[in-house]
Amino acid sequence: MNLNNYPFHPWKIIDKGWNPENVEASESIFSIGNGAMGQRANFEEDYSGKTFQGSYIGGVYYPDKTRVGWWKNGYPEYFAKVLNAPNWIGIHIKIEGEQLDLHHAKEVLHYERVLDMESGLYERSFTATLQNGIGVRVHSKRFLSLAQSALGVIDYRIETDRDATLEIIPYLDAGITNQDSNWEDQFWEIDRIGATQKTAYIEAHTLKTEFSVGTFMEVRLLENDDTIDFTSSVKKTEKKVGLEISHQLTAGKELSIHKLGGYLSSRNYPKENLESEANALLLALKNESFSSLYNAQKEKWSSIWKSADITIDGDVKAQQAIRFNIFQLNQTYTGEDAGLNIGPKGFTGEKYGGSTYWDTEAYCIPFYMATKNQAVARNLLTYRYLQLDRAIENAEKLGFTKGAALYPMVTMNGEECHNEWEITFEEIHRNSAIAFAIFNYTRYTGDTSYIPEMGMEVLVGIARFWAQRASFSAAKKQYVILGVTGPNEYENNVNNNWYTNYSARWCMEYAAEQMNRLYNEFPADAARIQQKIDLQDAEMEQWKKTAAQMYLPKDDALKIVLQQDGFLDKTLEHVSSLDPAERPINQHWSWDRILRSPYIKQADVLQGMYFFEDHFSNEELERNYAFYEPFTVHESSLSPCVHAILASKLGKEEQAYAFYLRTARLDLDDYNAEVEEGLHITSMAGTWMSIVEGFAGMRIKGEQLSFAPRLPKAWEKLQFKINFRDAIYTLELTQDTLVCSVDQSEETTLFVHDTAYTLRDKVEIAL
Ligand code: BGC
Repeated sequence: MNLNNYPFHPWKIIDKGWNPENVEASESIFSIGNGAMGQRANFEEDYSGKTFQGSYIGGVYYPDKTRVGWWKNGYPEYFAKVLNAPNWIGIHIKIEGEQLDLHHAKEVLHYERVLDMESGLYERSFTATLQNGIGVRVHSKRFLSLAQSALGVIDYRIETDRDATLEIIPYLDAGITNQDSNWEDQFWEIDRIGATQKTAYIEAHTLKTEFSVGTFMEVRLLENDDTIDFTSSVKKTEKKVGLEISHQLTAGKELSIHKLGGYLSSRNYPKENLESEANALLLALKNESFSSLYNAQKEKWSSIWKSADITIDGDVKAQQAIRFNIFQLNQTYTGEDAGLNIGPKGFTGEKYGGSTYWDTEAYCIPFYMATKNQAVARNLLTYRYLQLDRAIENAEKLGFTKGAALYPMVTMNGEECHNEWEITFEEIHRNSAIAFAIFNYTRYTGDTSYIPEMGMEVLVGIARFWAQRASFSAAKKQYVILGVTGPNEYENNVNNNWYTNYSARWCMEYAAEQMNRLYNEFPADAARIQQKIDLQDAEMEQWKKTAAQMYLPKDDALKIVLQQDGFLDKTLEHVSSLDPAERPINQHWSWDRILRSPYIKQADVLQGMYFFEDHFSNEELERNYAFYEPFTVHESSLSPCVHAILASKLGKEEQAYAFYLRTARLDLDDYNAEVEEGLHITSMAGTWMSIVEGFAGMRIKGEQLSFAPRLPKAWEKLQFKINFRDAIYTLELTQDTLVCSVDQSEETTLFVHDTAYTLRDKVEIAL
């Protein structure tokens, strides 16, 4: 639980005042990452109070054996864990024989953390009195380099109020575990451990997955900013290595310990070269100082912000929040490594194992499509294409045949890997989001080559799955889909979840339509695919038939679709009738009570209406929104953003703004009372959508961009940039004007509130 109220600031997150109860929450908030690795904001010096240690390397995981009470055939064998990796930030410090540890300090007089999102720098400072009466002041700065993805840099400054002997041990520690281990397994085995006077190195490999990781560090000392020489003695145990340094610190002088450290892994380098690569990296950095490395960091962030920043005039809390979301997304995934994806908690915690979920396709793709170049979103789609064989194996394990593909709900390498059946495993709807993302990407980028080159095979695998998974109901004389969990995880094993059935129907139609397009426009690809996967016309006819006869539950009296069969049998009391003390219900109610209740964890029917907005009239959207939103508890981070977009479209300004704050400040204000577990990274892309698709009302109309701005009242101006089909569009919106400029010379059309305008360089439109 986060007890903090971070002051509003356009670029910074600030945590002032010492509160030991808040350490874990703020370790999440102040997490840093560079796409290749990331870490919670753990202290460098010892801390014996409550803390959640975490440092993670993208793509390095452990298959922790699934733990369930009753093993059912079809269960995934393991739950992939993002691994807590060796600690390279640690520095033990003794001052006149007393360990520096805020938990045992006599008094903490000043304490502050600052995250500067503009430059990717995390700082912490404190002043404390130790039990031995010595006053100590510490100021540390840390960043994970975007320029050198293996590298992190620390400048740890310390002053005492009297002359004191310091015993300093900067160290590497591979004796780490995961809090969420199923069987208390050790995940790492040490291969090598060594040190010189100024450097140390530990090589370890993960059990079962055999990733080798070299953790390295180099230590430099400076006094009042002048480099000083030092000698150290190596302290080595089985899993830990440190350099013990003794230093006489004079009052009024400042000792600065610089630590350069990080990881190289066998995902990127041959195993046998890890140590030499680490040495080569440190050698190459020989003449770099903390400030020169930090300058490079600033430049990298400045170029990210150039294309991704959103500015909001007139509402600093909204401004701070959107930047926090954009910042965290860029810390998690930079798009440079096609083997990586976006874990729901990124590098900020263990929950969700750092694995890939449907979140990427349903929520993250639009952000990456618009704020980076097209190749980044294509990489995310390719990630699934490369895992198609595994998706087919996943489906085979469940009894499906003939190339039917069931993408995993949770995965590291394409295999399904989760602990639970009803939640996640039964959420076969994830297949539709993967197909939808292909459609969404093609619609947005205009890249017509992805489908013939890769996407078509994925679409076919998914259509085959739905055609086999749907069964014909003799009673209904329609196809039904039984025994599923929809996006709303507070209902399990339901029949005919509308979202699942509707999106399955769309997948089969879309796959058939795209295959036909390929026959006409890309005959060579069509022939190659047809042969490779043995696709016959009769099979596609079956998809179309199943789609045409798909059962979609609805209620004619209320004129709404039904979330699933039997939804109206529930006691239909709105969320507003709940006792606030019992919220979030997932922390207060039995699972039995949740399942019987009408309460909806996250957009379910409305998720479908968001994806397929054009298929519904405004009246249909309005009626379904009015019916389902009041039952929605928004206990998934993915919920408020979709509601913000729909509320905006429906002209419900106040609700849209409330949902915006809830999605944007979900972690900063800890709406779901769980921020200490880590941040909700994937929903942060939803926050971006709630501004761009919500308040700015951006859509793609045919081949053109279209906007329908509805700014919150307090917003004087909203500005953002998007990359649309390789041109950069800059949007400036006020309450009554829209200015759009584009960095291409060709003339194009822009729709604003459905009116077409010609855009050449710049256009200003009165709203
Ligand atoms: C949501 C899922 C989501 C997962 C990871 C769950 O709480 O209900 O839809 O995929 O979190 O973000």
